[in-house]
Amino acid sequence: MEIIIQKTAEEGSAVGGRIVAKLVQVKPKAILGLATGSTPVQLYKEMIKWHKEQGLDFSKVTTFNLDEYVGLAADHHASYHRFMNEHLFDELNVPPESIHIPDGLTENLAEHCAAYEQSVQEAGGIDLQVLGIGSDGHLGFNEPTSSFASHTRIKTLDEQTVEDNQRFFKEGEEVPRHVITMGLGSIMEARTCLVLAFGENKADAVAEMVEGAVSSMIPATILQFHRDTRLILDEAAASKLKKADYYKWVYSNKPEWQQY
Ligand code: GLP
Repeated sequence: MEIIIQKTAEEGSAVGGRIVAKLVQVKPKAILGLATGSTPVQLYKEMIKWHKEQGLDFSKVTTFNLDEYVGLAADHHASYHRFMNEHLFDELNVPPESIHIPDGLTENLAEHCAAYEQSVQEAGGIDLQVLGIGSDGHLGFNEPTSSFASHTRIKTLDEQTVEDNQRFFKEGEEVPRHVITMGLGSIMEARTCLVLAFGENKADAVAEMVEGAVSSMIPATILQFHRDTRLILDEAAASKLKKADYYKWVYSNKPEWQQY
């Protein structure tokens, strides 16, 4: 795992933006896996900047989002579909038919999940999967004890995640307990994983993910087995890493051809 520690979330997101931009430059038909939550918002701003200021073309890119709440329509104010439009797609030239987000209103969940997984395969697999990390160590909506081999399916949210995500819902509105999420097995199939974590409340989950024992109780620890995971942190999220000084040295001494 490559651990990239930057002073601030802004600086970290700029590094992430360069990683995405470099991929789309060399592979205009790149398949991007995308995530929601507050963490990637600044990364999405960077991608929009690359598009608007540097003319980076996303018209041949295909995207697959990780997850969606069951029962929320695409235009619901707290749906991940709406979130993605507001924070990315409204400003980028990815054709609507190339954007894939699980359908929270599907009538046949099992069939929809299998078809979603199938369409990732048919597109050629994900080149770069953007990920945040939940405070309980979840990826997408793969809560603690999720199978490491799981693919897209329905999951039930943990109380902690319901609490964490309540802020996206209006007062008195309940966070749906059921969600559709790509699995840990699906995430492991991505050629590169780009994980972002910022702020002190992610420090414990990050320390477990990087330096802890692999366990489905901390789903993100599965990435210790991933062949190309790049983890971008700010100082606060990196504050509980035992080997932070080593990771910083490694990053600042990368050969030029390896730099982002
Ligand atoms: C949700 C999303 C995850 C995200 C997590 C953390 O549960 N399904 O993909 O990583 O929230 O969110 P935030 O970035 O807002 O801390």
